[in-house]
Amino acid sequence: MDLPPGPRAPAAWQTLAWTVRPAAFLHRVHHRFGDPVTIRTYWTDEPMVLFSHPDAVRELFRLDPAVAPAGQSWEFLRPFAGPHSILVLDGDEHLRERRLIQTPFHGERMRAFRPAVAELARAELGSWSGRVVTLERMKRLTLETILRIVFGARGEIELAPLREAVHATLDTVRSMPRMLAMSLVQRDLGPRSPWGRFRLAVERFDALLLEVVARRRADPGSDSMLALLLEQRDEHGNPPTDRHLRDQLVALLAAGHDTSAASLSWAFERLARHPAVHARLREDDPAYLDAVVKEVLRVRPALTIAPRRLLEPARIGGRALPAGIHVAACLWLALRREDLWPHAAEFRPERWLDGPAPNPMSWIPFGGGVRRCAGAPFAEMEMREVMRAAADLRIRPVRPEPERARRSALVVTPDRGGEILVGGTP
Ligand code: HEM
Repeated sequence: MDLPPGPRAPAAWQTLAWTVRPAAFLHRVHHRFGDPVTIRTYWTDEPMVLFSHPDAVRELFRLDPAVAPAGQSWEFLRPFAGPHSILVLDGDEHLRERRLIQTPFHGERMRAFRPAVAELARAELGSWSGRVVTLERMKRLTLETILRIVFGARGEIELAPLREAVHATLDTVRSMPRMLAMSLVQRDLGPRSPWGRFRLAVERFDALLLEVVARRRADPGSDSMLALLLEQRDEHGNPPTDRHLRDQLVALLAAGHDTSAASLSWAFERLARHPAVHARLREDDPAYLDAVVKEVLRVRPALTIAPRRLLEPARIGGRALPAGIHVAACLWLALRREDLWPHAAEFRPERWLDGPAPNPMSWIPFGGGVRRCAGAPFAEMEMREVMRAAADLRIRPVRPEPERARRSALVVTPDRGGEILVGGTP
């Protein structure tokens, strides 16, 4: 079966371009081959067809998970994520897990976390002066938020060792080539081999996390997502096991840490180059704050694709596609279509206030369908609180030209880390 057109360059070249300059690569292939486009990279064994038209995106997100599972695309994460992880499950098991893990993200429960998130944001930004590489600071902030608010860790005695153990494991998980190679081999050649070291790091992290779970079982409090997850009951009325809770907490860490940090560093990168937007943030208008967050996520999405693997032939956007290939909603292209977003490359939060409401299948930084980001309400709330805290800072770019997009593991970040100058005269 013919696949849609795409670059004929070797997979090695496409992998390199996709990794080093993801935005330029996607822009180029879209410009040259249109929509859909087929790419070949080392990240998948078979070609991947990218779609960005909202009708095709809707069809893709509505595909039966038995035909187009997503969990298989994250299989390489399994050694860290664990067997109960929402990230690697598909079908009914995935839906069951999704119902459970979404409990803390609903309405009032979620809003109750806002003051604590705001407090952490203010404490972090309050220490800024001079040149600040916002990506590093936002990694620190989003990790702190997850450890305290998601994991419910209390006091330095719990937080300090957890921080260290997270770094030791995530540094390996973030190195995709290493992770892929190790998950293929998975041979423990002793504690000094890469796999052996990784296993030890995960064991240490698990031991610390399970200690926190045990303490919160005894004294759950009401100020963390873990406290809410402890109240879960399955269809037989059973509470979650420790291993299950562990996999839920790790899923929230793996999915929520780098994505939020990348999006926030883009927010600072854009804000520093748009003083009028920054000035308007000071008015503390909730609608404008929300518009800024939505526009950052549109113009600089942290993830470029939402991939699915086709287990059976399927039809998307009028194209017949064979089993075995990968298909993806291309978030980056969908969010940059000139036909849907006038002056798509421009950062204009006003478009969310003045213009017509966008097609929901074109604003897809959180993916869609049954796999849509389970943490989206929390991610947006965290971004709003950081932007609110940023309103009072004096910031300007270190260099006037915009930062380019580069890939860092799965996420796309500003290539100079969203560097800004804080303080002094504006
Ligand atoms: C700005 C930050 C974030 C972005 C851009 C983002 C984006 C995404 C995307 C694109 C997906 C895949 C959707 C698909 O395949 O259709 C996803 C899945 C997921 N995200 Fe997020 N995310 C962010 C923050 C978070 C946070 C803070 C959490 C939790 C604390 C979280 C938890 C999850 C989970 C659990 C999934 C898996 C859902 C499933 O498989 O059913 N994310 N996210």
